[in-house]
Amino acid sequence: MGKRVAVLTGGGDCPGLNPAIRGCVLRGIDYGFEFIGLSEGWRGLVEGKTQQLGLADVKEIVGKGGTLLGTSRTNPFKMEGAVQKCLDNFKKLKLDALVAMGGEDTLGVATKFFKEYKLPMVGVPKTMDNDLSATDYTFGFDTATTIAMDALDRLRDTGRSHRRIMVLEVMGRHAGWVALYTAIAGAADWVLLPERPTDVKAMCAHLKKVHAREKVALVVTSEAAEVPGMKTESEELDQFGHMLLKKRGLGERISEIIEKETGIETRSAVIGHIQRGGSPTLFDRILGTRVGVKAADLVAAGDLGKMVALRGNDVVGVSLEEATKELKTVPRGWLDLADVTFK
Ligand code: F6P
Repeated sequence: MGKRVAVLTGGGDCPGLNPAIRGCVLRGIDYGFEFIGLSEGWRGLVEGKTQQLGLADVKEIVGKGGTLLGTSRTNPFKMEGAVQKCLDNFKKLKLDALVAMGGEDTLGVATKFFKEYKLPMVGVPKTMDNDLSATDYTFGFDTATTIAMDALDRLRDTGRSHRRIMVLEVMGRHAGWVALYTAIAGAADWVLLPERPTDVKAMCAHLKKVHAREKVALVVTSEAAEVPGMKTESEELDQFGHMLLKKRGLGERISEIIEKETGIETRSAVIGHIQRGGSPTLFDRILGTRVGVKAADLVAAGDLGKMVALRGNDVVGVSLEEATKELKTVPRGWLDLADVTFK
């Protein structure tokens, strides 16, 4: 008899999740798997909330944003009695394996269940932040950054018309990949990242020079960039201990500083969750499909406790524990590359 395999998606959603779910189910059909969708991340396992997940459900979702299964930032290890509920529901649902699709938090929970409770887990990496160290790229990043790049192109047009400096704030709480790629690909004049403290004086002097020449200057900032003397607003922590940046205000505050320092009219824009929605790009559809298919292959081979990773052009299985050990932040070499483009 085929295996009973549960699939869940946890953490912030991103384009590419549906292609990944689809890839996993389509490949699982080849192995005779029966799929059970767990709704809303780990909450689905805690509460035994399931949904059907068959060929008809996934056939056409490759181009759809979001996640068919819903998501949440539920951490069963932070909720009274929730781990036992997960173990009970795993048994009740007669599961042979669970495929968890998520970032470091969701996969951290999968790692714990695998290591401490011997539950058969396979992980699929997703995050628009692209900050998982075990894989070269995560789906969601390409779509999000393409949206951000487009927003920057638009800001250039209106900024130049009004002879303004424009500041674009993008997501990235701990890693500045989205801001970095947007800045390079959108020909920005400065980027602010969590990985490097901003030299405000140098930035303003440079923007003044560019503005005098181009009649516009563009800045990209990550939502939690490191600006000396400026604290990122954070009212709450989620169940994984990360700040919930509900007040996305860094771009606005930076634009006020720039206007004061340079004497040039400055405006800011925040694209927020717009960068997490919409149809996945070609790259994210293909990557999502590939990692989803590989997850089903790992389950079929009994190669558990693994996360699917993109290494070069290959999709391989790596240890979940290794994969969730540390975040991939922007290294020096990438910062140098961005600096080359700021002239
Ligand atoms: O998925 C990660 C992320 O996109 C961060 O960059 C961002 O700060 C966070 O999610 C916001 O998530 P939400 O507002 O949906 O909780």
